[in-house]
Amino acid sequence: MENSDLIKDLKDNVNEYMAFIKENIDKKNALVITHGCQMNEHDSEKIIWLLEKMGYTMVDEIDNADFIVVNTCSVRHSAEDKVYGQLGNLKNIKNKRKDLKIAVCGCMMQREESRNYVIEKFPNVDIIFGTNNIWKLPELLYSSYNGKKLAIDIEENPIGLDEGLGATRAYGFKSYVNIMYGCNNFCTYCIVPYTRGRETSRNPKDIIKEIEDLVSHGTKEVTLLGQNVNSYGKTLDFDYSFANLLEDINEIEGLERIRFMTSHPKDISDELIMAFKNLDKLCNFLHLPVQAGSTDVLKKMNRKYSKEDYLNTIEKIKSINPDIALSTDIMVGFPGETEEDFEDTLDLCRKVEYDTSFTFIYSVRENTPAAKMEQVPDKVKHERFERLLDVLYPIQEKKNKALIGQNVTVLVEDFSKKRDDYVTGRTEGFKLVNFKGDESDIGKIVDVKITDANSFSLEGEKLG
Ligand code: SAH
Ligand code: SF4
Ligand code: F3S
Repeated sequence: MENSDLIKDLKDNVNEYMAFIKENIDKKNALVITHGCQMNEHDSEKIIWLLEKMGYTMVDEIDNADFIVVNTCSVRHSAEDKVYGQLGNLKNIKNKRKDLKIAVCGCMMQREESRNYVIEKFPNVDIIFGTNNIWKLPELLYSSYNGKKLAIDIEENPIGLDEGLGATRAYGFKSYVNIMYGCNNFCTYCIVPYTRGRETSRNPKDIIKEIEDLVSHGTKEVTLLGQNVNSYGKTLDFDYSFANLLEDINEIEGLERIRFMTSHPKDISDELIMAFKNLDKLCNFLHLPVQAGSTDVLKKMNRKYSKEDYLNTIEKIKSINPDIALSTDIMVGFPGETEEDFEDTLDLCRKVEYDTSFTFIYSVRENTPAAKMEQVPDKVKHERFERLLDVLYPIQEKKNKALIGQNVTVLVEDFSKKRDDYVTGRTEGFKLVNFKGDESDIGKIVDVKITDANSFSLEGEKLG
């Protein structure tokens, strides 16, 4: 069957399954527990949309839920362990509440080993689906309510089945939008190409229509999601790049901010770098994961750029846009990483001066090429991790403190966790700012003067 026919067929059927659940099932409080990255967060928004269409009410507590969906992440061992712990806990709860339904989905379910482990160890799980077939949830629920012991369906690759699927966004004024699915890069440490399948770009018309629709419902900021947005367009049958997409999105009236995640340093184009100068809605912020500073290690990681390539790219960006805030992902303890290699990472961090960073200790992922390489002892990994933070945090603090006295714009997201007469939001550079404000500020972009700063956040005063 052609993809488009398959989608049509599925969408025709899905309404019947949804109607069945809506009309025949009484207890309909649902909880979606999300692990992992923004991809998963956005997938959970799609799941919640489907659940609400079926008449479910979303709740926050396990004890109040009749249906629990655990959306899993595989990226590190610790992420999987957390899910197993949670499923153990749910197993005990379900022993006491037989009518509780449990679904497990997300990246772990795309991996045969983890999926089989869940099936074997947690027989109380009723439904299993993956990252590429969220549309199937109503059908699986239907099967489960009609006596199927385990309703399971997995789709290896993204085949566009999410097209047209809505999402209940966590914040109406700030929305995630998928521009592509999957990853073809096969960095040797990474599980994602195995859990998200092959790279596929969405049609720009669908993306733009989705964003226009979001803006008409109050969205001010979009974050475009893809594992490697720079290769956006490669699977389209016409000539259209990520920079073209940004230009077209920049034209959308009413939209105020554009972000994207994640771009791979190997194929960041000059066109894209220029976008930071030319496109007024593109936030002054670039997340460019380096992973490691040693060219040798980068080679073993299959990253396809050297330390020098990366530093040259950063130089180019800074020369075009000196105020850009830079962020990265860095890993320590990749197999074979020597003290000298690690020093290269520290040196690169000192040179780039990141505003924000996400730091990780390398975690062995079964069946990836790096799993078979010679491993660095745990003690060394942990010690390097601490040393890395000792370099990164003072730089972050210095960069944040440099903003004291400056005026910035903040998209206010919520009340501050620390004080209830304070609100919190993010600058264009993705820096968290707390300032005195009230409910009327939430969802707005306001001008704030920065008055104080530490390594992780800023304080300010609202202007005007
Ligand atoms: N597509 C994105 C990242 C996806 S995973 C990119 O290419 O940048 C997010 C981050 O998790 C990665 O950037 C990497 O730093 C980290 N990561 C991935 N696999 C890991 C592993 N096996 N151990 C530790 N960290 C890992
Ligand atoms: Fe993983 Fe590399 Fe793909 Fe990112 S680009 S998801 S790190 S394989
Ligand atoms: Fe994201 Fe984790 Fe999957 S990082 S893509 S949810 S493996």
